Amino acid sequence: MIDIKQIEKVAWGKHDDKDVYLYTLTNQKGSQLKVSTYGGILVSFVTADKNGEMADVLLGKDSLEDYLKNDCYLGATVGQFANRIAKGKISIDGVEYQLATNNGPNFLHGGDKGFDSHVFDIVEEISEENVSSVVLSHTSPDGFENLPGNVTLKLKISLTDENEIVLDYSATTDKKTIVNFTSHPYFNLKGEGEITDHSLLLNCKYYTPVDETCIPTGEIVSVKGTPFDFTEEKVIGNEIDADHDQTQIGIGYDHNLVINKPVGEYGLVGIAYEATTGRSMEVYSTEPGVQFYTGNWLEGDLGKNQTAHIKRQGFCLEAQHFPDSPNQPHFPSVILNPNEEYTQKTVYKFVVK
Ligand code: BGC
Repeated sequence: MIDIKQIEKVAWGKHDDKDVYLYTLTNQKGSQLKVSTYGGILVSFVTADKNGEMADVLLGKDSLEDYLKNDCYLGATVGQFANRIAKGKISIDGVEYQLATNNGPNFLHGGDKGFDSHVFDIVEEISEENVSSVVLSHTSPDGFENLPGNVTLKLKISLTDENEIVLDYSATTDKKTIVNFTSHPYFNLKGEGEITDHSLLLNCKYYTPVDETCIPTGEIVSVKGTPFDFTEEKVIGNEIDADHDQTQIGIGYDHNLVINKPVGEYGLVGIAYEATTGRSMEVYSTEPGVQFYTGNWLEGDLGKNQTAHIKRQGFCLEAQHFPDSPNQPHFPSVILNPNEEYTQKTVYKFVVK
């Protein structure tokens, strides 16, 4: 047993008149996860490769000040509604709500000031034998971002001795509303360079193609014969620039794929692997979909060590309900009623091969 302090907390500045803290969770493998109470951001995850060399596999920034300029949602907790809603328009029980249009004509990732841009409250720190956790919470007041309901998210972020980052979400509301929470870490299993040389397997037989503004057309299409077929392990860069209308629209991958399991059931999302370091990341979730995004818009964004990111320096596997679900009745429902509890669990597990 290494004698380590599992949970450390330091002051990290102030935002919206609230103190911000940076947590460091350490496990028995010596891996360290840093989490900011601003935005529930996963700031860094330092873990070993096959030779025991440590590297940070998460894209992020050096300071709170730099995150306040963030427009790429690096590592952030995203909600109350993650991903896009066409023209920011929803209707609940015949009442129409106009949400922010902060991504071209559409709503994206919670609107102008989503959960990623708020300071979360600290609910609890939990040190157990094989796992350490912090529980964070934020309430979005009724009408904020034009969304109905006082919506409270509780997010438990854990690091286990099995080298798993575990995200347990629960949320409640006092008025019928829509919710879709995710986490937006960008991974680079080498710790540097492009991620196009990583390989990926996705437990997804179907995907939801999009129009030119990245809103699903409503079709649920087989990945067979398309660049979206990761049913067998494939190098991410192989077909990223394929002459296919969808990879052209996304400038690479920026799409929701349908996870091959019943809605709400916990199971495998995918496995990423980087051969030179031997690092592999398995992703599991209760969510029905996953946004596979290859960091096509990262170029020039300020990263760690005050160094600008390059295009495709990170990839995201954002477990989620499908984009534009409120307007697509055949997609799994995103409605949350009072007296119901929303739950979501996503795990990123790191192994070396
Ligand atoms: C979206 C991308 C967007 C990125 C950062 C992803 O979830 O699908 O289109 O550029 O988040 O905002």
